[in-house]
Amino acid sequence: MIRPLLSLLAVFMLTGCGQAAEPGAGEPATPARPAPTASEKAALLATLPAPYDQGDLDNGRRVFARCRSCHTITEGGPNMTGPNLYGVFGREAGGLPGFNYSTAVKEAAFVWDGERLDHWLENPRTFLRGTKMSFAGIPDATDRRDVVAFLKVETGYASRAQP
Ligand code: HEC
Repeated sequence: MIRPLLSLLAVFMLTGCGQAAEPGAGEPATPARPAPTASEKAALLATLPAPYDQGDLDNGRRVFARCRSCHTITEGGPNMTGPNLYGVFGREAGGLPGFNYSTAVKEAAFVWDGERLDHWLENPRTFLRGTKMSFAGIPDATDRRDVVAFLKVETGYASRAQP
């Protein structure tokens, strides 16, 4: 007498669980992209143009510690003293809407690529005289290569390069 009742209960619970699991399982409506895993980042790194494909992402992350007080790099991240850097590669210098750039950067009239960022980071004030980015620069060329590679991997460069 009790057994059929139990199995009925079990069936009921199973279908109940199935229904409860459904909305969470697929989540096709959620727009947020999952953060790339370490191996996906390594794969992205390998697709970068030379010399950035040789970059050391761990060192790049360490070098980027010098920028974090002023810049966020996540998609939709806030502007701080400096503008959010997500999507900076391929973006016009001074091109992030809502950030109050200096005239020097606003009027620079170029699009950021690895080479320009390398020169900028070597010495922002000589690269764009009049900039308000008060940063002394990164003298070491390998550190600059690594932070550019890190930024390319972290700020959506590769995903846009492969539409
Ligand atoms: C003390 C704060 C500060 C630090 C540290 C700093 N930045 Fe900046 N950054 C700024 C400001 C302010 C601007 C806007 C400059 C202007 O308008 O003249 C800027 C602008 C930029 C831009 C141009 C963005 C655009 O939209 O055109 C890039 C790229 C950049 N910074 C990268 C870096 C990187 C990489 C580092 C670390 C190696 C760094 N910055 C360190 C404050 C900072």
